Amino acid sequence: MIDYRRRALRLFPAGSNGEFGIPPELVPVLNRGEGCRVWDTEENKFLDMTMAWGSALVGHAHPKVLEAAIKAAKQGANFAAVNAPLVELAERISEICPFIERIRFVASGTEATMLCLRVARTATGRPKILKFEGAYHGQHPEGVTSLVGDRLPPFPQPDATGTGAPWVERDVLVAPFNDIETTANILSENSDELAAVIVEPLHRCIAPLPGFLEGLRAVTKRLGIILIFDEVVTGFRMALGGAQEYYGVKPDLVAYGKGLGGGFPIGAFGGRAEIMDVVDEKRLPGPFYAWSASTSGGNPVSSSASLATIDVLSEKGVYERLHESGARLRDGMGSLIKGRGEIAQILGDGPLAQIAFSAQPIRDHRSWKASNRERGGRLMLALLKRLVFLNPMGTKLYLSLAHNKEAVEEFLEKFDLALGDIKEG
Ligand SMILES: Cc1ncc(COP(=O)(O)O)c(C=O)c1O
Repeated sequence: MIDYRRRALRLFPAGSNGEFGIPPELVPVLNRGEGCRVWDTEENKFLDMTMAWGSALVGHAHPKVLEAAIKAAKQGANFAAVNAPLVELAERISEICPFIERIRFVASGTEATMLCLRVARTATGRPKILKFEGAYHGQHPEGVTSLVGDRLPPFPQPDATGTGAPWVERDVLVAPFNDIETTANILSENSDELAAVIVEPLHRCIAPLPGFLEGLRAVTKRLGIILIFDEVVTGFRMALGGAQEYYGVKPDLVAYGKGLGGGFPIGAFGGRAEIMDVVDEKRLPGPFYAWSASTSGGNPVSSSASLATIDVLSEKGVYERLHESGARLRDGMGSLIKGRGEIAQILGDGPLAQIAFSAQPIRDHRSWKASNRERGGRLMLALLKRLVFLNPMGTKLYLSLAHNKEAVEEFLEKFDLALGDIKEG
């Protein structure tokens, strides 16, 4: 049972299950987690700053979440059918976000955003969607189009991520985040064919400029285009009501995932009834019907874990704590980069932070791409070597409820040392 690293490297491309950028000799194989800590098979104890890519928002192995999940699992892990905790969960979510009149559950954020797009296309009878350059919406073609590459908006770049297909070239448009004028022009020019705009309200870690989301809401409404919020990251994280509550803008459809499940796999998509009702099987076969069925989506274990997660997140002071920790993290990182004479800035909002080595303000994908990302990658690796668990392919850091003040200060100490490491290196 030893040498998991070597065994992982033999069977997993790059020794990974999708995260990348870790040299073979450092590939960690994790064994357990608790709160904001994870341990690998060699019993190295890490401070976790990625928290299962943000899905363990309440902390690893939260006792209340575990208790709910174990209780549910004892009664059957999955029925692939509507079940009691799932109904309760649907009710809780629509109480929190009353614009959600209809909802369905899936097992991941990828499925949730993919189905939002399918629903929007079916409801409008139009083929095109617009996304923002650099946005990630999951593994499906639209989710990874123009995630990397140099092609200028409004043209999509699907081939850089293995999703090059004539229909993607034809039906996906791309706009620069935080540029409402350019976006509005692309929307107006294509409104006859556009079903939807999909946006991460917090674009990766780049906050929306004042008026951008409001402008997007106004122009999509005027043109009759469906506005989809991908709240897979922001949902239940920026506020209990997600980015829509935090930034005060309501979409027509929303996708959730990650933090909603308390670490258990979940996804959900929902919105206004007149749009969502295209998944009603009475409409089969199309053209006014959109297929939606997920074998593991809405299983009672994930649903029960999710209900317990929402209970934890509903406790008094939770969002104050998450935002305070995030603000301290960003302030602390900002002071340390200044102290070290680095040309860099700290992005983020709520319990999220990201370093960008650039003197220019980062407001969209192009300005982010122009930053020194190789240096960012080196810093992440230096942190990993100092037993901070993170995802070196990006520089986004996720805090959880389990990150108390001491954990944030511990990270800042290691961050400063890692800045020293890359200076020397
Ligand atoms: C904004 C956003 N949308 C969708 C997804 C896809 O979620 P999943 O990995 O659960 O399929 C992610 C994953 O990182 C994401 O960050």
